[in-house]
Amino acid sequence: MAAMALSAALTLSAATPAALTVDALVVGVRPKGGRRRGISAPACLTAAARRRLEEVASALGATGEPGDIVRLPSTGIAKAPVVVAVGLGAGRGDVEKLRRAAGAAVRSLAGTRRVGFVIDEPSAATVEAIGLGALLGAYAFHEFRGVSASTQATPVRAITLLADPRDPDFKDALTRARAIADSVCLARDLVNTPPSALPPAALADAAVAAVADLDVTVDIWTEKQLAKEGFGGILAVGQGSANPPRLVAMRYAPQNSMASIALVGKGITFDSGGLSLKPPKAMETMKCDMGGAAAVIGAVQAIARLGLPVTVTGWIPTAENMPSGHAQRPGDVITMYGGRTVEVLNTDAEGRLVLADAIVRAGEEKPDVIIDAATLTGAAVVALGDRTAGIMSNDDQMRVDVWNASVAAGESMWHLPIPEESRASLNSSIADIKNIGDGKGGMLSAAAFLRDFVPEGTRWAHLDIAGPAFNDGGPYGYTPKGGTGAGVRTFIQIAIATTEYMQAP
Ligand code: BES
Ligand code: ZN
Ligand code: ZN
Repeated sequence: MAAMALSAALTLSAATPAALTVDALVVGVRPKGGRRRGISAPACLTAAARRRLEEVASALGATGEPGDIVRLPSTGIAKAPVVVAVGLGAGRGDVEKLRRAAGAAVRSLAGTRRVGFVIDEPSAATVEAIGLGALLGAYAFHEFRGVSASTQATPVRAITLLADPRDPDFKDALTRARAIADSVCLARDLVNTPPSALPPAALADAAVAAVADLDVTVDIWTEKQLAKEGFGGILAVGQGSANPPRLVAMRYAPQNSMASIALVGKGITFDSGGLSLKPPKAMETMKCDMGGAAAVIGAVQAIARLGLPVTVTGWIPTAENMPSGHAQRPGDVITMYGGRTVEVLNTDAEGRLVLADAIVRAGEEKPDVIIDAATLTGAAVVALGDRTAGIMSNDDQMRVDVWNASVAAGESMWHLPIPEESRASLNSSIADIKNIGDGKGGMLSAAAFLRDFVPEGTRWAHLDIAGPAFNDGGPYGYTPKGGTGAGVRTFIQIAIATTEYMQAP
């Protein structure tokens, strides 16, 4: 795989907004409120600077609404040559608004080297949110540009937050922002990498590289080892490709561990559909079909880097789903890891086949919970759109816990049921289960399929990230076009919340 993009530096500074030496200073502004038009600038600026900013930004059309960005000359406000007024909206306390505003501001400043952020009454939460949003907004993927590389604006290189560098809470906030952003950007890189450059063996190598300097061990099953142990789902999906499948286990088990979490990520490095071939348009973005695996690799990296006191095992079943003379056929019956048989009626419903093997294997180690993330169904995109993932679970409390984590992380997710009839639609007349239902509620029958493979008594949740894993529209907030790193932040937040829950009196 090609070398990945450098990320921006992130630091704190005790300088005043007026004196900070950067190329652009970002200031959050809000609508004035009531019937008064115009914007209001933060109180941490001097009265004169504040008045000047409100006047000039308002004259240039700034509204203070979320997503609004206005660039203005800094005369009378700051030493930095440019000031960017970014809208935060009227409400307070929504850290996701801060992340998005910071991301959008940094994105709009591509081509500028050093950017400073004014933070009104900084707290650990706002420092982390602005730092994370800014780093995520400074992402770009130019590894595969040739002659056009020189024409691309260089993303922002250095981000300085105006908050006390000696405050230990702010330092911790910065450490978290750094670790989370790096892992989200790693997941984005993996998704953006063309499928020819990231076959299953390379994805496995990327998992090794991601944790090379961390207290994480990685086991890789080759095709031969998969065959020996009977991983029939992973093998069947991979058998049509010239690039053989793998199973990867990333193990982080700190001494002070309080709980164990198994994360499972769908790692289809390219989904052509197999013999149930997709139409050309539907195939264009199918390099994203390892988005779940990317989320797992990113999350394990960040959790280990932050030294969180939880055991986390990241499981990545990875294969390339291709049609060929060796490919599995609609009508084949395969024997999965653990012995269940599956009638494969549509080779494009391949994600559940590789996941089921990995879920059974993960369950053997008796983790407290299993959570999988997968770009599993087009039905998820129909139901929830491009930006919201579906959460399904065999345990209502766990589903709510995962949703709470997604809210804290700033990732849009919503609850879906696994109704009885979705499982019934998977009844096969010749095998234990078939891999497609009756075509209705496709996201739910995919979850029903997976649930059959979860060991009795183990709590499990499934995230269908088919929509949010890949942004085929324009960039917004801190979200770039292409790979988004969806799932990474929720997984990390689940690990954080687990430790907080275990520590609570
Ligand atoms: N990888 C696709 C799902 C997908 C669709 C991901 C759009 C991202 C964006 C998955 O393997 C698939 O093809 N699912 C089929 C299942 C069907 C055959 C039961 C689908 O959703 O059409
Ligand atoms: Zn498919
Ligand atoms: Zn797929």
